[in-house]
Amino acid sequence: MAIRTILTVPDPVLKQVSKPVDAVTDETRALMDDMLETMYAAPGIGLAAVQIGVPQRVIVMDLAKEGEEPAPRYFVNPELLEFDGEKQPYEEGCLSVPDYFDEVERPKRVRLRYLNYKGEQVEEWAEGMYAVCIQHEMDHLEGTLFIDHLSRLKRAYAISKVKKAKKRVA
Ligand code: NI
Repeated sequence: MAIRTILTVPDPVLKQVSKPVDAVTDETRALMDDMLETMYAAPGIGLAAVQIGVPQRVIVMDLAKEGEEPAPRYFVNPELLEFDGEKQPYEEGCLSVPDYFDEVERPKRVRLRYLNYKGEQVEEWAEGMYAVCIQHEMDHLEGTLFIDHLSRLKRAYAISKVKKAKKRVA
């Protein structure tokens, strides 16, 4: 396993549409292991492969609270099958937009289908944090960031904030 570099806005790779994975192989699992380690180190609760520069439809997530056992989840080729009409606002952040948080409205419940770490097909409803996080991560697969759901002004502010912070570190 290895910690990879997380791309930040306005890196154009983040705008790419990720490609489906043909089959869950040891190579896919190695990618997911690296992604999980990278996400834990950040630290974050979700990461899409494109955020480490690999535009494949792969996501990792861990929604365990502090003090709980780690509970990694893996998603390959996830698809949204249906969602509840009701929308709910939630304050989101993103490892590719560090230190910026803002409210995004998304459906409260979604039903999804994906392949897990073993390559088995899973179909389930997601709600609460899980619903927020999976929709945020699946947006990454389409090249969409949570700031793309905000006003142009807020988006520009978020990007300039990240750019400035990066300059200070470099
Ligand atoms: Ni994100």
